[in-house]
Amino acid sequence: MLTIALSKGKLIESALDLFRRAGYTIAGLSAESRRLIFISPENDMTFLIVRPSDVPTYVEYGGADAGIVGKDVLMEQESDVYEPLDLGFGACRIAVAALQGEGAGARLSSKVRIATKYPRISERYFNARGVPVEIIKLYGSIELAPVVGLADRIVDLVETGSTLKAHDLVEVEVIAKSTARFIVNRASLRLKQEPLMTLIRRLRAVVPSQQPPAGSSRPMAQRTHKKKMARS
Ligand code: PRP
Repeated sequence: MLTIALSKGKLIESALDLFRRAGYTIAGLSAESRRLIFISPENDMTFLIVRPSDVPTYVEYGGADAGIVGKDVLMEQESDVYEPLDLGFGACRIAVAALQGEGAGARLSSKVRIATKYPRISERYFNARGVPVEIIKLYGSIELAPVVGLADRIVDLVETGSTLKAHDLVEVEVIAKSTARFIVNRASLRLKQEPLMTLIRRLRAVVPSQQPPAGSSRPMAQRTHKKKMARS
């Protein structure tokens, strides 16, 4: 039996569609349901519906054998999991945004305040550029922060750009692009190799123009590295 953690929210419909296209019948599993666990005996699988930011934790610690989560979350958490498949859907970018008219370098003499739900990505990005920043961690509705003067800029996901536009914000820089990824627990890959490889093969077959994730020459060699930077 394989346990698969799916991100609730924006990715779940595409993730369920992916499993269906790969030939898995998952009757009763729907994005609308309040159920958090679905047992699918016909596929010998259990699906868990968890918050996106919790998917890498479930997979890393073996609460799930595999999961589907955005690259943005993996970059932020640097979890120790295998990342064999870029699933292509959920495309968006992690960007720096500021209020329209707030030119670059408005506060060069002091720390720039950045509101974000990606504190590590933000810190790495600005540190690498030698820009002193003060990170303000928020859990959602990030676009409000510059509007009320809580922060100078934000680092957030941009998909269509409509949330930025609605708050008079403009993209200043793109930090990284993100798509949904299939991730696998390292021990499960050894202990449940056969069912996991079958699942990966069936998913890969229905992912349009599957490429190895950037930076990987061998699909199964990809691993999201952990703790490259000191955690505060
Ligand atoms: C995400 C992100 C932006 C929005 C971007 O928020 O944080 O707010 O989507 O999408 P857009 O470019 O298509 O407008 P989400 O809906 O996940 O909610 P949150 O603000 O509570 O994180």
